[in-house]
Formats: sequence, structure tokens, C-alpha cells
Amino acid sequence: MIDVRANSGLRSKHNEAATLVAQMTLEEKARLASGRDFWHLDGCERLGLAPVMVTDGPHGLRKQATGGDHVGLNRAVPATCFPTASGLAATWDLGLLHEIGVALGEQCVAEDVAVLLGPGMNIKRHPLCGRNFEYFSEDPLLTGELAAALVNGVQSQGVGTSIKHFAVNNQELGRMYVDAIVDERTLREIYLRGFEIAVKKAQPWTVMCAYNRVNGVYCGEHDWLLNRVLRDEWGFEGLVVTDWGATNDRVAGVTSGLDLEMPASGGINDRRIVRAVTNGELAESDLDRMIERNVALALCGADTVARRAPVDHDAHHALARRAATQSAVLLTNDGVLPLAPAARISVIGAFAKTPRYQGTGSSQVNPTRLDCAFDALAAALPEAELNYAPGYEAEFSPEDAALINAAATTASDADVAIVFAGLPVTFESEGFDRSHMDMPAQHNRLIEAVCAAQPNTVVVLANGAPVAMPWVEQPRAILEAYLGGQAGGSAVVDLLLGVANPSGKLAETFPLAQSDVPADKHFPGANRQVQYREGLYVGYRYFDTAGADVLFPFGHGLSYTTFEFDALDVAQIDDALQVSFALRNAGARVGAEVAQVFVHKVDDEARVWRPQQELKAFARCELAPDEREDLRLAIPLERLAIFDPGQSCWMLQPGEYEIRVGASSRDIRLTARVTLHSEHAPSAALTIPGPRLAPGAFDVGDETFAAMLGKSVPPPEPERPYHMNSSLLEIGNQGWFGRRFKARVVTEFRRNMGISDGADPTLARMFEEIANHMPLRSLALFSGGKMNFEQLEMVLSVLNGRYLRALRQAFASRSESRGESRDSARVDRDKRESGE
Ligand code: BGC
Repeated sequence: MIDVRANSGLRSKHNEAATLVAQMTLEEKARLASGRDFWHLDGCERLGLAPVMVTDGPHGLRKQATGGDHVGLNRAVPATCFPTASGLAATWDLGLLHEIGVALGEQCVAEDVAVLLGPGMNIKRHPLCGRNFEYFSEDPLLTGELAAALVNGVQSQGVGTSIKHFAVNNQELGRMYVDAIVDERTLREIYLRGFEIAVKKAQPWTVMCAYNRVNGVYCGEHDWLLNRVLRDEWGFEGLVVTDWGATNDRVAGVTSGLDLEMPASGGINDRRIVRAVTNGELAESDLDRMIERNVALALCGADTVARRAPVDHDAHHALARRAATQSAVLLTNDGVLPLAPAARISVIGAFAKTPRYQGTGSSQVNPTRLDCAFDALAAALPEAELNYAPGYEAEFSPEDAALINAAATTASDADVAIVFAGLPVTFESEGFDRSHMDMPAQHNRLIEAVCAAQPNTVVVLANGAPVAMPWVEQPRAILEAYLGGQAGGSAVVDLLLGVANPSGKLAETFPLAQSDVPADKHFPGANRQVQYREGLYVGYRYFDTAGADVLFPFGHGLSYTTFEFDALDVAQIDDALQVSFALRNAGARVGAEVAQVFVHKVDDEARVWRPQQELKAFARCELAPDEREDLRLAIPLERLAIFDPGQSCWMLQPGEYEIRVGASSRDIRLTARVTLHSEHAPSAALTIPGPRLAPGAFDVGDETFAAMLGKSVPPPEPERPYHMNSSLLEIGNQGWFGRRFKARVVTEFRRNMGISDGADPTLARMFEEIANHMPLRSLALFSGGKMNFEQLEMVLSVLNGRYLRALRQAFASRSESRGESRDSARVDRDKRESGE
């Protein structure tokens, strides 16, 4: 099924690339260190190397025909919008993810796109991360397996992918500079694990490094992350590209494992590279090694472009519908679903006619079609009488009692009511985090009012991340439809009517309240820093260890049929545990169950801290009524290993393990024990510190966190003196000059991005947040050469009250710029000629 040829990707082009690089001048090489424009890698006309296009991703193609931006302002060419990653993850279906990958790859080929920028695979540390809708799960195994399947699908078409954002990018606030402070065990076992799986199983052509810092170092110059872990340990053969505008120190990036800076930055950093090589700061051989990878990518991309072929959009829409059907999770159902034939159905909620189907930002797709649930229901039930009330305004949903009253009256005059509710588009976006877990008050009140007026009420939710449900007991059924993509409307109707059987399972815990989330006290952090004090206690790893109540547990999802688990047997064969059991469909409908295998260490020594249980294998299995299947899942022993930060290695604790097989982390049906003997066990008694659970709200003190880190907790970062990574928000706090400077920059930025006063409110909010948290250095990178680092240094001197220094810099910069403009004329000219 998987085309291995395509997966050999960049490696197959390395010799050809090396031959080309050997013929290039220093300036030609430096030019290839950054993009040609917003979406293209640069080429080298003299040597016949053409520029190639890369573009977003992840759940559909966002190819901007004119005007590039990284937040979805300019419209893209039509493409199939699949469900976003939260929904795709709820399918737990690796075959489906591969199929979607193939479809995405076909669309890339049709549009001359060499690399799709996705999938996003950051861990859902906290339900409020603004981009959770774009990420898969709170669990690294599930994340990694899903990402690998999607990557293999895309790359089977000879199109590259960019797994992102590497690494520890789990929030939007301050994403361009925040320092994530994480202990190494947590890094390895939670935040890097998914990437490791995807790299080892799929060799993505590229990895996109995140904007943020990890333990004090920007990801784009993180030698340990990019060279040691990604390349040396995992064997990554592709190229590391920056997130758009993530470059901090470009020259340091060359030796630290960063290959390509995106987007173009007016040649500013290319000139720095030339200078560094010329003055001996950077070895040309290091630059060559890096450029060879960039050239290899361009060569692979040229092959993609040469194969241009049309796409079957109808077939892709049908696939999007199947994906949306599998993405939806039936959270509760007292038997009202599937709906019995009803004469009068009340459809409540503006989302029924104006679907909420994707998130805002760089992943925003311009769909080829858009199904709405109301039309799909009307088409499926031509005989039924449908009445409709909007209940709220789709975009903002301000409180409006009249709309609620009208909806309740409409609902009472029917046999059954279906309420479509959730999070409006203004609540979930790239660029900012959600401020609370609540749905708009208008949606909550609407549900309560309709449930009071109509005893047969079903709620269908559209949202990309968990929400609080104060009304959870009131409706007869709740279907979590996530952000279902362009065919989500018809998929929901298929499920409500029983044409399809729900099979989605939550890939994340739905907590009862935000304050229950283990990371909550340290999300999104303060003083430019976010401390991951909760360590491994992410999602169910915490809730199941603490035995805390949740709204819906990890892995939960109901079906219209029932499944029986039976005959568990576990044996260690060579380097794996073989877990066999039988699954039977004991109901009357065809349906699919996701069998989840958790592992619990039984005789754990108190000195080694670990969560109560962890997901180690899973399988989705579709069965006809009464059909029984014998499943055999292998758990490689290395999956049971834990990372010992003291010795800096993985190790397998010998002893007894309990294997738990079930339908969710809280619905374990079978257990068995096995004793492991390990050659990789530690010789001395091992001690690994971690947070202990104690009665009351979860928190981790300085002493424990320092023990986890193996050093004292880094102090909060002072705001002053200002520096290249100070944000515009911070600078704007600094007196008259700071305020004026920020205002000027924001006005210019707004004008460049085409944000007018009457702009779409989500875009306006996203813009404001992005502008506020933009570091000073980005002004040089994003201004296309209008502002340079020397000018920014002067600004900093003024902001820091060092006026004489500012004057000296002004004089020096005038004479320097005269010399430099001569030196860099070739680089500039080349960039201009190439259309930048
Ligand atoms: C996002 C990336 C995206 C890139 C290009 C950035 O703002 O973080 O996920 O691929 O823009 O649009």
C-alpha cells in the first residue's frame, strides 16, 4: 500500500544535489538558505534548478494564487476541506488517514505543490490552546501513529510533508518567543515521542521547527533538538524548515541543524551567511551540507511538478464525508439515536445552516463544496416536516433572549429537536488561546431552553477542542461532531438517521472544569516563560492516576451496536509483547470499535514516578452483527521503556506489568499480567523524581520541579533591558517612544496585511494578538528589507535610554551600509530578479 520509493525522498537526490552545490558560488548558495517569496524555495537558473512551491496544510490544501500570508488572509484556490486534526484523531483509523494523505498528495500534484505543510502534531497539553483543533491528541503514541499514516499517504504521491511544530509548541500566547521549560523525561516521553514515531515510520521530507524556545534555546538553533535527537538518534534524512518567521540567529542555525528559512526575508539573513563564511565564523563545508538538503528538496519538488494530473473532486468530497462520519463521537445516547422516523423535526441553531467546519489561520481551506446539515436532512427526509430557528448568531453569538424563546417555541412544536451548537469561529483560531472552556452563554441557554421545551432533544456540537457542558444531563443524546470539514453537514445527518454508525473515540479527555487540568496553574505561563511542571501528567495520564472525575474520558465514544471483548492472552515473544484477544459485535448493526491497550506497571518502585496507565497499542475494527475477530497487537518492548534523565538513556524496568484492554481509558474490559525480564534494565536502583499526587488541587512546588529538571528552576525573565526578542506589547509599555514606535509598526503591518477597520472579527483579533506578540526581530524579517537589524539596534538603544549609543550606531550604520551594499549587491540583485 505504501510507496517506499517516494519515502526515500530527499536521500535519493543527495548525489545530484551535491554535484550542483559544488558548482555554486557562495552567494548562490546563501540565496538558497531562504525562500524566494512567501511560498517558494529559491532556485538557481544558471544551473537549471527551478523554484518549487510549498504550502499549508494540514487538512486541505491552502494554495494562495495571489498574495501570500501565513494566517489565511488571502483566499486560496478551492480544495477539499477534510475534518481538522481533532476530528481525524477521533477516528483512530490509520488506513483512513493514509487515504486522506493520498488525496491531499493528489491535490498537491494537481496544483504544482511540492510540500504540504503538515500535519500539525503538537500534544494537547491544555484544552485552551488556540490551535488544538489543528492537533491530534493528548497522547503521543496516537499522535505519532496518525501523523505517520498521513505522511506516508501524502508522500506515496511523491509529495513531501512538514511535520510541525517541532517542538513543544503547545500554546499560542507568546508563541514566537516563549521559553518552554520542560524536564528531559517529559520531553522524550510526551512532547517528542509523536515526532519520533512519525520520523521513524514515515521519513517526512521536512520537519518544521517551532517559533518558541525549549529550555532557553530557540528551536531553529537548537543543536540538541535538531542535530542530536532528530538526526543522530532518530535518523531523520530530510530538511528542517523554520515556521514562517521563526528565524532568530540564522548563522547559528546553519550549524545547529536548520536548513531553510521561510518565508523570504529580503536577503537579510543570506547576507549574514555570506559575511560569516567570508570572515571565517562559519565553515563553508557546513553551509554546503545544509544547501545540499535544500537542493535535494527542490529536485524532488521538480519531479512532483512534472507529474501534474487532474483531481477527482467528487471522490475527495465523498472521502471527506466518510472521514467526517468517522470523526464524530457519540458522547451520550439514551436510545433516542438513531432517530426513529418522525413526522416533525425541529432543527435549531445557526450552525445547521451556516456550518462551523474548520478553524481560522494558516490552515484555512477554501472548500470545493460545503454541505449543511439542514439541507442534508431535508434531502434525506423529503416527507418530514422540518421547522427551523437560528437560536443564535453564527459568528459572535451575543446573548439574545428573543432568539432563545423563539427557538424553544419552535422546538416544542415537533416530535424531536436537534440543536446545533458549539464554538463560534471567533472562539478558536491560530494566534490566540481560548480564555475559558465555556461555550457562549447564548448556546448554553439555548440548549437548556430547548431541552425544557422538548423532551426529545439531541445536541450536535461543532468545536475543535473540549468545552464545558453544564447541561450534559439534559439532552437525550450528544454527538460531538468536531470541525467536520466540508462534508460535515451530511455526515452528521448520516449518523443521526443511522445510515452510518458512530465509531469516533475521543483522542483527548474532556475535563469537568478548566481548573481540573493538571497544567492549568502554569498555562500559558508568565514572564515569557511557560513551566511544564505537571511533567508526564498530561490528559488521562493525570486524571486516571488521580482517579479524578472527568466529563468524558480519553478513548470514550458510543455506538449503535455493542461489542464484547474476550480471551485476552499476553506473551513476550522476542522484543515484543504479543497481545491477543477477540472482539465480537454483539448487536444488530454493522459497527466499528476501537480496542485500546493500556499498560500499567504493577510492582512499581516508589522511586520511579510514572502515570497509572499509558496507551501502548490500539486497533479499529469494523464488524458485521455477530461477527467475531481475533486481534493480535504487538507492543515492542521499547514502547514500555521510560527515559532515565540521570543516565540519559531509555530503560525498561523489569517486573510485572498489567495489560488492560478496553473501550476507553475508563472502560477496561480485560486484564492480564506479564513479567518482563530486560537486558536494558538499570543495574543500580533507579530514582526518577516527579510530581506526587496529594489531596486538593494539583500543583508542583519549586523543589520537585527543580529535581525533575536536574537544576534550579530558571528565574522569570525580566522585561528590561529590551532586546531583539522583546515583543511589541512589551515595547509599547515603554513611555512615549515605545508607544509611538509600536503604533507606527502596527499601522504599517495592518496596511501590509490588508486588515481594514471593518475586517472580519476573528481575523482582526488574530491580527491584534499576532502583532502584540511579535518580537522586534520579526520586523526586519517580515518587512522585506524595509527595516534592517542595524536600525532595530538603534531603536533598542533609545528604548533602553542609551541615547549616545544610538547616535554612534546611526553614524556607524551609515558608513557600514555604504560598504555592505557593495558587498551584498549580488545577493540583492539575484533576489530582486527572482521576483521577490
Ligand atoms: C504557522 C504554520 C504554517 C505557516 C505558513 C505559521 O504561522 O504556525 O503552521 O504552516 O505559518 O502558513
